[in-house]
Amino acid sequence: MAASSLTDTPLETHKLPAEFLYGYATAAYQIEGSPAAAGRAPSIWDTFTHPDPKSGIKHTIDGLSGDVATDSFNLWKDDIALLKSYGANAYRFSLSWTRIIDFKNPPGEDGLEKINEEGVKHYRAIIEELVREGITPCVTLYHWDLPQVLHDRYGGWLDRKIVNDYVHYAKVCFNAFGDLVKHWITINEPWVISVLGYGQGVFAPGRSSNRNKSPEGNTSTEPFIVGHNIILAHAYAVKWFRENVAHTQGGAIGITLDTSFYMPYNDDPENVRAAQRAFASRLGWFADPIYKGQYPASLKEMLGTRLPELSPEDATVVKGSSDFFGLNTYTSNLVQDGGAEELYGKVKTGFTRPDGSHLGKQAHVSWIQIYPPGFRQLLNYVWKTYGKPVYVTENGFAAKSDALLSLPEVVHDADRVEYFRGYSNALLEAVVLDGVPVKSYFAWSLLDNFEWADGYTTRFGVTYVEYATQARHPKDSARFLKQWFEAHIAN
Ligand code: NOJ
Repeated sequence: MAASSLTDTPLETHKLPAEFLYGYATAAYQIEGSPAAAGRAPSIWDTFTHPDPKSGIKHTIDGLSGDVATDSFNLWKDDIALLKSYGANAYRFSLSWTRIIDFKNPPGEDGLEKINEEGVKHYRAIIEELVREGITPCVTLYHWDLPQVLHDRYGGWLDRKIVNDYVHYAKVCFNAFGDLVKHWITINEPWVISVLGYGQGVFAPGRSSNRNKSPEGNTSTEPFIVGHNIILAHAYAVKWFRENVAHTQGGAIGITLDTSFYMPYNDDPENVRAAQRAFASRLGWFADPIYKGQYPASLKEMLGTRLPELSPEDATVVKGSSDFFGLNTYTSNLVQDGGAEELYGKVKTGFTRPDGSHLGKQAHVSWIQIYPPGFRQLLNYVWKTYGKPVYVTENGFAAKSDALLSLPEVVHDADRVEYFRGYSNALLEAVVLDGVPVKSYFAWSLLDNFEWADGYTTRFGVTYVEYATQARHPKDSARFLKQWFEAHIAN
């Protein structure tokens, strides 16, 4: 009954509720620049993106860092004006831990650093301006820029001590901004932090477990220790929030996880199992403890003692520690059993079907193809498996043309428009036809920006940034999303 009454209106005219959050996502290190302004101290990404003093090795494709990025530390008012012009009613951005906490001075007797009031003032101004403009601020506390001091002091995410430091930082943010911020994301993409930073070493802090290869394969434990401490830091920050400020400030808090939609390559039971393994390793690793209270059995089996144990005391804090399911997703993958030795299990992921056809158009990056039906199915999977409202916190496309064309052609980003048309309609189908409670859609990204190890060579923005002048040029995709959400959100 409910489904048919929903579909009485044709899909194209169906409206998402007025509270639906539509906007763009960014992250501090990718856009701010000004690494030393307002008392900011270095993070592991500052260290990683500057040539290694001993070897001279550079870790980004173009050898560049986030020192300048899109200069949003200075140009944030322009960014907010852009959001406004794109009709966005929400903005997801991250705070820089090393601008908010004073890591330029030694810690106090309690082992914790003081607040850096200048940094707090900077973000307070941004948040106030957003609210004045009617744009809901959605704040990510941690988007990969770990204070270098904490990494040097005890290994950062490798040590449980990080929980205390992270909770201290989170408390400062809740107290400083909680009157205006009602949507908090504790940590962005723990899988990427753990595996790319501590397993493959292609992201900061660049720790590679290849050196741990034994005849049995890769026996590294670091990614799993890191993942465990991330889960704990998230959960203990949420516990503090709920016990101390939630009742006065209100607001929702949760974590953002990343995954593709994993489909078996064909109906061979080995491949069906491989797709389940892929989900368990990518998503279940974090989602199962947080939403269900324990690591997936299949992951425990694959990893044995490499996976830390979740003690009963921690499990009670971790279970239920996210009010919503924050989802970053870009693509789908076909999964086969076998493949190269990975950090866990053996799966081979790809885009090519048994008949040789591809899932969809290839992005500038190797890991994305356009496949909207997978997005709809993933929204269903997440809702059915974890039972929480879904906040799509990132979704987007790096068009090949962005890398090949120059102004004025590059703003006609037809492939990105194709991507967003498909994915926004898939979202609507999931909500209207399948009844999945999706509460937000944040496109990645407001601007072309510093794309981590890709430097500035990969552009995900709906706004073209001329890095030499910092001029911002809206692309067709920005116009497309504006019109789409105008048509599909109730007034
Ligand atoms: C996920 C990350 O959160 C974001 O920082 C990154 O730029 C995009 N994916 C695109 O790779």
